[in-house]
Amino acid sequence: MIPVAGAIAGAAYIVAALLFILSLAGLSKHETSRRGVTYGIAGMVIALVATVGVTAAGAWGRPEAVTGLVLLVAAVLIGGAIGLWRARIVEMTGMPELIALLHSFVGLAAVLVGWNGALYETGLEGALADIHHAEVFIGVFIGGVTFTGSIVAFLKLSARISSRPLMLPGKNALNVGALVAFVVLTVWYVVTPELWLLVLVTALALALGWHLVASIGGGDMPVVVSMLNSYSGWAAAAAGFLLNNDLLIVTGALVGSSGAYLSYIMCKAMNRSFLSVIAGGFGIEAPRTGEEAAGEHREIDAEGAADLLAGAARVVITPGYGMAVAQAQHGVADLVQRLREHGVDVRFGIHPVAGRLPGHMNVLLAEAKVPYDIVLEMDEINDELSQVDVVLVIGANDTVNPAAAEDPGSPIAGMPVLRVWEAPNVIVFKRSMASGYAGVQNPLFYRENTQMLFGDAKDKVDEILTHLVKEAKATNRS
Ligand code: TAP
Repeated sequence: MIPVAGAIAGAAYIVAALLFILSLAGLSKHETSRRGVTYGIAGMVIALVATVGVTAAGAWGRPEAVTGLVLLVAAVLIGGAIGLWRARIVEMTGMPELIALLHSFVGLAAVLVGWNGALYETGLEGALADIHHAEVFIGVFIGGVTFTGSIVAFLKLSARISSRPLMLPGKNALNVGALVAFVVLTVWYVVTPELWLLVLVTALALALGWHLVASIGGGDMPVVVSMLNSYSGWAAAAAGFLLNNDLLIVTGALVGSSGAYLSYIMCKAMNRSFLSVIAGGFGIEAPRTGEEAAGEHREIDAEGAADLLAGAARVVITPGYGMAVAQAQHGVADLVQRLREHGVDVRFGIHPVAGRLPGHMNVLLAEAKVPYDIVLEMDEINDELSQVDVVLVIGANDTVNPAAAEDPGSPIAGMPVLRVWEAPNVIVFKRSMASGYAGVQNPLFYRENTQMLFGDAKDKVDEILTHLVKEAKATNRS
């Protein structure tokens, strides 16, 4: 009974693994992403049913094994219910922090699986026992780093702690020292598998995970999230080796490698060193706080902004996280439609990390039915910004910060940004003079060609629209 069930489960795992590969392929393109999600759901359902099935077969006629089955089913039901509930209520702006939290569970699971592997007698001897001990140790280490690293990412992304980088003295030496200690302890544990070594590596991994992510500044958080995604994959693969589960190994490797590749692409897009970011900001010197304000700012009201737009021929809108918070995308779409009906050339400039998740702005604008062809990437629009009449910066801050291009001492120095300050008129929609996610002051607000439009972005966009309609009616009457 059990060998047959094991063989069926093995076959089901291969089908699930193939579905996960198809899912990743589908998710890589806009048009096929829905299909990709369906493949992923199908793969996960098959994997869960096969796991429950093989556990049930193992418990057949063995009352002492029924507890395991009951616990498994209860865990799947409770976990599934919580997951469904969270996924239904999560705001899109809260997605990265939810993802970070989910990564922490994978890390914790890998630590627990590792400890379980160490505490239970395997009956292995010789080289096989050595390999098992190495798997336990490496699994616990990767899991521990992923666990605390993801918790810090969750706390930073949900603004429960500051997004500023933690700059402990000798932070690079601390990270390198921890890695060297891990290698030494692994060899030690393989030779003499004593429990205190496992306790030590668990503490080391938890501290390192915390320090690695705490040392990275807010501007680099997108890379951190995809990097932790990668770590969680490797943690799952390590657990797969311990549990002798092929599906976990394959899935973990897929998540690990695709997450690593995404981190690499993001680092290239943001002009960051991949190695430096995965090593907790290795080689990056303590930046200035960037909090010093620079001069006086000018303000404009909605009526003034409407007048400026009414006289413009070319307008570019650069949205950011604040547009998502205000849920201003529908008002923005109405404003764009109105301007275009009056012959104004309106386009959007989208920064690769605007908002809080990849493609955040594109999704919001698509939801508001803004035509795709006027939504351009940063690189496509940057050289044209000096030739437009007005740029509307709607809830963006770090992604339009000139300090990134002009101030080598800035924490976001070198990050490519939308050069909105090259336009003759810039209107910045935000509620205060507060800094953006990276915690860096923005000199754009103090430029001569910039005017601040304070208030909730949705309210201000709606007010502008009302003024434009009112002015058009008054012109028609006269
Ligand atoms: P941010 O730099 O985060 O700034 C958003 C601005 O929106 C804030 O300065 C805020 O100012 C304003 N705001 C908030 N609510 C508003 C509302 N209701 N109405 C009007 N304005 C509002 O935005 P960004 O330019 O999009 O940059 C994104 C940042 O997040 C980058 O640092 C990026 O690295 C980081 N990040 C991105 C991702 C991904 S993958 N996209 C993931 C994690 C982190 P007030 O409070 O004064 O209103």
